Amino acid sequence: MTPGRRLSATVNGENLSLAGTDPSTNALDWLRAQGLTGAKEGCAEGECGACAVMLARADTGSGTEWTALNACLLPAAALDGQEVVTAEGLGAPGRLHPVQRELAVRGGSQCGYCTPGFVCSMAAEYYRGDRSATRDDTAADAAHPRRHECGPNGFELDALSGNLCRCTGYRPIRDAAFALGEPADHDPIARRRAGPPPAAAATWLEGPTGTYARPADLGEALDLLAAHPGAVLVAGSTDWGVDVNLRGSRAPFVIGIDRLPELRHLAVGDDVVEIGAALSLTEVERGLAGRVPLLDQLVPQFASRLIRNGATIGGNLGTASPIGDLLPALLALEAAVVLVGAGGEREVALADYFTGYRRTLRCADEMVRAVRIPVPLSGTTAFHKVAKRRFDDISSVAVAFALDVAGGVVRRARIGLGGVAATPIRAYTTEAALEGQPWTAETAHAAADVLHGEGTPLDDHRASADYRRAVLGTALLRLHAESTAGPVVEAPTGRGVGA
Ligand SMILES: Cc1cc2nc3c(=O)[nH]c(=O)nc-3n(C[C@H](O)[C@H](O)[C@H](O)COP(=O)(O)OP(=O)(O)OC[C@H]3O[C@@H](n4cnc5c(N)ncnc54)[C@H](O)[C@@H]3O)c2cc1C
Ligand code: FES
Ligand code: FES
Repeated sequence: MTPGRRLSATVNGENLSLAGTDPSTNALDWLRAQGLTGAKEGCAEGECGACAVMLARADTGSGTEWTALNACLLPAAALDGQEVVTAEGLGAPGRLHPVQRELAVRGGSQCGYCTPGFVCSMAAEYYRGDRSATRDDTAADAAHPRRHECGPNGFELDALSGNLCRCTGYRPIRDAAFALGEPADHDPIARRRAGPPPAAAATWLEGPTGTYARPADLGEALDLLAAHPGAVLVAGSTDWGVDVNLRGSRAPFVIGIDRLPELRHLAVGDDVVEIGAALSLTEVERGLAGRVPLLDQLVPQFASRLIRNGATIGGNLGTASPIGDLLPALLALEAAVVLVGAGGEREVALADYFTGYRRTLRCADEMVRAVRIPVPLSGTTAFHKVAKRRFDDISSVAVAFALDVAGGVVRRARIGLGGVAATPIRAYTTEAALEGQPWTAETAHAAADVLHGEGTPLDDHRASADYRRAVLGTALLRLHAESTAGPVVEAPTGRGVGA
């Protein structure tokens, strides 16, 4: 890191200085202060997408993928050395970008407040390198792991799941998305994808509220963590950004770890799948390409594409929230957490990792480097998330199943639960009730009664304790019905199937 280096970002092809920016300033406020007022603040908490912009990020190979992100959540300092495209950089009146033109001619914009955000999310999907391949795959194979609703042009509608519009109605917006063709050969934004993404710049930004530092590598990051007890690690900033914007949180020292190469590794081996802590959920989904079916079932239910483009696995573990969605799934997969600190690396079984409400075995001078999932994986898996809204909502209850059924008998059962205790938990008693039993409706009913009693659910604004228990009981019946393609039979106790 070189304190004093001129910090800057390339925005719409122009180099703009970040000097004088406070580390607590978000990218949206910084862009608007540069006169780029297309991106708007609707909520400042990642829910509306009015602030969406595109960043040049790594694709699954050696090229660049234009990635839409919520600028309201990103620290402006994290843009140092990065390339950003806003709605202004795509087109302007008289020379509209294809996305802007389709939205305009199909009536996809009324008051226009949400439109620059929609334009950026839609443009990122327009430029997705394998969009045509998605179209061909989904046409050929209805069971393809990419189950997101797709247009005839391969446009995944899920790309817009983080954008809200209060006045137009979504049909004309969808019509615009599905009418898009392929980028022209001479389109400079499309051509940019062939080159590597910008390297992560080592950054040091001091301001009145504190310091933002982006170390160049893991060793430097650990030195900073040791030297600044109480420093906040920030990866995708989808949790931290909300804390800063809505709760007024300020940290004297922030360490940006989302670009650390040592935390961005994905490896699928014969015995283990290792996923780097700083990979976003979108990167994990695309990198695994369906090879861990339980995660593939979970990902579309996690927030929105905009959030998943930033949110990392390490951040979900870092919050240690009892309603973090990845945690029950990783418990069912019997994952281990790889922690790294000044004293070296250690591996902890996730089932032993949580020690209390938002407390874990991680020491203050450690960070999560990766998670490891043992292979082979169980054959019968499911992730049931119950939330108030289908998309972009936090779980009231989450249940993850990983069962091995052979010869009609449950040989092994692993069940992770979220939202029913102070920490994510394993449903050990239910697992024992299933193992060695025939995988029949009777077994499912008997085990569902056991599952109904797991955890210590509470009443809160999301759901009552009774509702949470009912959801647990019925989740297993649904799993049985879906895995055997049989009917969902009402439990003898009278509890319905609502999971
Ligand atoms: C609109 C919205 C919807 C959401 N929906 C969901 C949802 O459906 N399901 C869900 O589970 N969550 C949801 N979240 C929460 C959030 O997106 C996730 O918790 C996400 O995984 C956090 O990752 P991040 O990289 O953004 O974390 P950050 O915000 O960067 O960090 C979060 C915490 O983790 C710590 N941390 C980050 N990386 C590490 C590391 N490698 N080692 C140790 N500590 C680390 C940080 O210090 C911080 O305390 C939502 C958030 C928003 C704003
Ligand atoms: S302002 Fe609503 S998501 Fe950023
Ligand atoms: S056009 Fe008004 S909010 Fe979308």
